[in-house]
Amino acid sequence: MMRGLLCITGFFTLFAFAQTDAADPQRGYRLLTEKAYLLPDFDQETFDQAWRHWPEPLRSQAEAATPEERRRMAFSRYGLTERSASDPANPDASNQDPRPLQYVVNEQGQWTMNCFACHGGKVAGQRIPGLPNANYLLQTLTEETRSVKLELEKPLSRMDLGSVFIPLGTTRGGTNAVMFGVALMAARDPELNVLPGLSAPKMTHHDMDPPPWWHFKKKTHIYIDGFAEKGHRGLMQFMLVKQNGPEKFREWEDDFRDVYAYLESLEPPEYPFPVDAPLAAQGERAFLQHCAECHGTYGEEESYPNRIVPIDEVMTDRVRLDALSAPARQRYGESWFGHFGKQDTRLDPGGYVAPPLDGVWASAPYLHNGSVPTLWHVLNPSERPAVWRRTSEDGYDEANVGLEISAHDRVPPTVLDPRERREFFDTSRFGKSAAGHLFPDALTPEEKRAVLEYLKTL
Ligand code: HEC
Ligand code: HEC
Repeated sequence: MMRGLLCITGFFTLFAFAQTDAADPQRGYRLLTEKAYLLPDFDQETFDQAWRHWPEPLRSQAEAATPEERRRMAFSRYGLTERSASDPANPDASNQDPRPLQYVVNEQGQWTMNCFACHGGKVAGQRIPGLPNANYLLQTLTEETRSVKLELEKPLSRMDLGSVFIPLGTTRGGTNAVMFGVALMAARDPELNVLPGLSAPKMTHHDMDPPPWWHFKKKTHIYIDGFAEKGHRGLMQFMLVKQNGPEKFREWEDDFRDVYAYLESLEPPEYPFPVDAPLAAQGERAFLQHCAECHGTYGEEESYPNRIVPIDEVMTDRVRLDALSAPARQRYGESWFGHFGKQDTRLDPGGYVAPPLDGVWASAPYLHNGSVPTLWHVLNPSERPAVWRRTSEDGYDEANVGLEISAHDRVPPTVLDPRERREFFDTSRFGKSAAGHLFPDALTPEEKRAVLEYLKTL
């Protein structure tokens, strides 16, 4: 039954996406939103019933709501957004397609995760494909849809089963994506043939905040440690489930030339609130003096050094750096993804890349683990909250430039439900430290205010 459906949808998608010659960014976007590269995660009925497993008072509120209100509540709970009806880069909220940006939904109502689950979301109420999805709550979505499936005796998905062995993400917006990749790669040979038996690579579970896609065009190497040379094949690691044999990667390679072109085409979103231009100009001077050597320059004289800063110098959380072992990096580089060793793969990058800061106003929370909620907190390291949570899905803090939050000394002891705990970012937990990047401490308070204003303009 399942296989029959897949064949039918496979046929339609092949038909709809007949290959053209030049890489086409628009087609890249359409593929990501319309073509399922994995098996479905759940179906419409399951998603529509998930509210029955919500904690109170949400459940009673959902029960009393209309189906449309309930859909909106579910989108909000799990960090999903509607799409824009026509232009992929059009954030206009009035121009709405009710399907989620983050899942491909086929005609049978089956939902399959796509890249936008982590790489598309909302900031200050604006939908932006390519924006890190700071609201995504994969673990909770998986648990609650699994409860519906068990109740309705529907089959479980790879995510349901995988999550038994690998934590998906312990905080809203963060996922254990890097370890998903390590686990899946360990089950393949360099040609991507599935290896027999069970593999047990060394795992260090930790959550990451995805980077914005509009930085892609400035980079020579990707990921926070810049370990992998940029290429269209590397974008396909997401498809490494057992059902996708090596032939699928060859078949879909051309699709990902278009996805690559789509990523290269993205521009940072513009800051939507007023900016004090004279103050920003002052900030630019301080930025050039204290920040540009690592983060590059913006405006007329654009430059970006792709610089890796040693971990002992940047001093941010080092779990991510150590979690990706040299053998795991090598495995990637020597595989089909790394063109069998022809691409530059760094086995010991030694630190983190100073990212471009284009559109940085939009991509909160900050640092690679998403531990710092606003740019003001980046600039004032000693003031970073030990524990914080978002006030609401769209809450934006214009004064501090970033997420609107409440700060806490610790997670309140009354919060026992693990789903509720995921709303709190606790910097005392493994891999979640907000320490380091003390470079802004070289600035006076006035200079910090000016740099904060300048950062809005990038
Ligand atoms: C489950 C969440 C998740 C999904 C789904 C996902 N990614 Fe990512 N992606 C991440 C995280 C987290 C990182 C940061 C990893 C790192 O730096 O170590 C990342 C990094 C990247 C980067 C590197 C960007 C940079 O500037 O260094 C690219 C490119 C990328 N992803 C593309 C994709 C594409 C294309 C897809 C779909 C085929 C996809 N991702 C699906 C979470 C995800
Ligand atoms: C010696 C190099 C270096 C200098 C100088 C430096 N930074 Fe950084 N910066 C980094 C690195 C490396 C990271 C990534 C750290 C991480 O994610 O763990 C980073 C991260 C950031 C981020 C977070 C970006 C994001 O999307 O998460 C911001 C904002 C930032 N820096 C601003 C500044 C400002 C403003 C200055 C000047 C006052 C500055 N930096 C000076 C290396 C530097």
